[in-house]
Amino acid sequence: MTIDIHYADAPLGHEIRGIDLSQPISDDVFAEIEAAYDRYGVVLFRGQNLTPDQQIAFSKRFGKLTQYVVDRYNMRTHPEIFVVSNVLKEGKATGLADAGRYWHTDMWVTANPPRGSILYAIEVPVDNGVPKGDTYFASTAAAYDALPDDLRQRIEGRTAVFSSEAYFKARMARTPKDPVTGDYTDSVKERMQQRPKEVFQQHPMVKVHPRTGRKSIYYAEEAIDHVVGLSPEESMALLDEVRRHILQPQFIYRHVWAVGDMVMWDNISCIHKATGDFDLPLHRTMHRTTLASLVAA
Ligand SMILES: [Fe+2]
Repeated sequence: MTIDIHYADAPLGHEIRGIDLSQPISDDVFAEIEAAYDRYGVVLFRGQNLTPDQQIAFSKRFGKLTQYVVDRYNMRTHPEIFVVSNVLKEGKATGLADAGRYWHTDMWVTANPPRGSILYAIEVPVDNGVPKGDTYFASTAAAYDALPDDLRQRIEGRTAVFSSEAYFKARMARTPKDPVTGDYTDSVKERMQQRPKEVFQQHPMVKVHPRTGRKSIYYAEEAIDHVVGLSPEESMALLDEVRRHILQPQFIYRHVWAVGDMVMWDNISCIHKATGDFDLPLHRTMHRTTLASLVAA
């Protein structure tokens, strides 16, 4: 059997049709799914109806799973599932509400970030018939292939230093202040004080995919403190150039979610960003499983 792939008008974001992920999948079909995932970086399935156990079982076909760094939003009965949700239950958060509203790879704060993630839509906000909470994906593999020689030479072999504090500051700059006091709310201030100590993590600006051997630009907006060997001004100028190169429309796929969608992305060959253009009373709930790094820790 050859799986039925419906291609997006982008290098990634292709839909695999005709597969019910709640049912056992033969090794042959699974091998084709995995090959498509490796090759394109983002593939998706629509119209699924999965229990947490079924999502975990499918995810484990790819190998070991890993858990999200903060375990507060891992499902208690199924800790392999990380809950992304803005829904409150008795006033308390049921999941992480503002996940990933900047261009990033997942868990860049770790030395060996996960292979990828699988996100399954349980609730999708719809406003006047228009789905909200889209996710953008950009192919950093296609962007690498299209690098002008000059820019390629300036990033190849370079290392970028990622910083949890750089990300935190950028995130705070996006957080609205109280219109009356002109200051952050007490809960935001509390979060600022309770944040963990700054973590620095180095990553090469060009990563080679361990399964495909393909090169990709490794990048996260707002998280990179500097590029090793460059002055702060040179770092910022280079990172800005890299950003503008990656975020060209021909490398980007925008996923408009529907309930039952399952989207899986490779964490090396693409970056992604959540739009977050919705709020309560609209509900958005997703279950995420995370595939462990292909590189030994
Ligand atoms: Fe993410």
